[in-house]
Amino acid sequence: MTQENADQALVDAGESRLPGGLAHVYPLGSRLGAGGRLEIGGCDALELAREFGTPAYVYAEDDMRERARATMAAFARRTESFEVLYASKAFPCTAAMRLFAEVGLGCDVASGGELHLALKGGFQPGRIYMHGNNKSERELEEALAAGVGHIVVDSFDEIERLERLAAGAAQRVLLRVTPGIEPDTHTSIRTGQADSKFGIPMAHVPRAIERCADAGLVLRGLHAHIGSQVYALDVYEALAEVLVQIGELPLLNMGGGFGIAYTRDDHPPTADDYAEAMLRGAPEGVTVLCEPGRSLVGNAGVSLYTVGTVKEIPGVRTYVSVDGGMADNIRPMLYGATYEADLAARFGDSTPCRIAGMHCESGDVLVREAALEDPSPGDVLVIPATGAYGHAMASNYNAVRRPPVIFCRGGDARVVVRRETYDDLTLRDR
Ligand SMILES: Cc1ncc(COP(=O)(O)O)c(C=O)c1O
Repeated sequence: MTQENADQALVDAGESRLPGGLAHVYPLGSRLGAGGRLEIGGCDALELAREFGTPAYVYAEDDMRERARATMAAFARRTESFEVLYASKAFPCTAAMRLFAEVGLGCDVASGGELHLALKGGFQPGRIYMHGNNKSERELEEALAAGVGHIVVDSFDEIERLERLAAGAAQRVLLRVTPGIEPDTHTSIRTGQADSKFGIPMAHVPRAIERCADAGLVLRGLHAHIGSQVYALDVYEALAEVLVQIGELPLLNMGGGFGIAYTRDDHPPTADDYAEAMLRGAPEGVTVLCEPGRSLVGNAGVSLYTVGTVKEIPGVRTYVSVDGGMADNIRPMLYGATYEADLAARFGDSTPCRIAGMHCESGDVLVREAALEDPSPGDVLVIPATGAYGHAMASNYNAVRRPPVIFCRGGDARVVVRRETYDDLTLRDR
């Protein structure tokens, strides 16, 4: 499916069927079905909540597949030399990895654990890129033993470690550099500025290139990831300019950062726009790599909760409390992320309210300014666009059991990660 068709499909799937300009925030194919009840991947959200319990992460499988295909197609229309890697930190789940491997993506991993999942998820080792600003010796050994295609070297200390561990095995590497470019996004998800823990400072790059050669490593290219939720695309052109000045190497990895719509007011660029921006500054003959995470999974997933209490504080506000919160989605507390929220059986906005979690922190607020249609205990509440960095960053705070991951497609739902049990909570006790 072309990008245009994928975009059209998104519009067809939602605009006419979900109210209030929400179509692009919910997964592809979402609609209001019988009685105005939300359907994700053809599955009734209330039925999903009843069958699998709440809180739960629910994904429309076709959404992920289509976005991966659309991203590949966006590059393929413009060049023969490219690679799209799935930044698996966004949603480290073997079922998703399998799906992306089948579509033809490579994989970006940033720890031994993510490497383990990527291998289990079916990625060929040669298509895996191993990141990290402080990979342990053990992680480097695991990457070498698995035969990962490229290790993305982040520091001089790491070059020394690899020299010793790879022992002349001609391991292929990229050099992560800090290009000194600041995209217009939240400071916590900016990574390209000079004052960063990631990458080699520009002034030291020539020396790092020499050190790689001395260490017997095969330097195949440069890497820079400047940040996430990047809407203003001129930074990618600026990035290509900076990287090209360093010297021409076969691979140019421009990182991820493709933005998504968290609320109805967000209108991110398309995959086509990102491909265009990344390729514009890249010289002929160079293979351009990108590694989106959020844009492949973010809008594919929603979180389902059950409303437990509705408390009206006269003259102040109404609190709607749900059975999850900061343990299953830390993003609002970590960097003020904003979300939409709806009742799965009653879309509408008659009641301004604040959606609070169940954790023992006043800051455990999922949506500060929401509007629901007459919320009551027992209602199933849905927060869309939680597919990226929700499951990935989940914790057991308050000894809650981490939620299951449910994949929906064509009206069928399957559990791809089960809910934790109380026994899971004591599994590591000695
Ligand atoms: C090196 C690297 N690549 C890719 C990504 C993916 O970013 P996003 O999910 O915003 O596309 C990240 C995110 O932290 C990253 O650090």
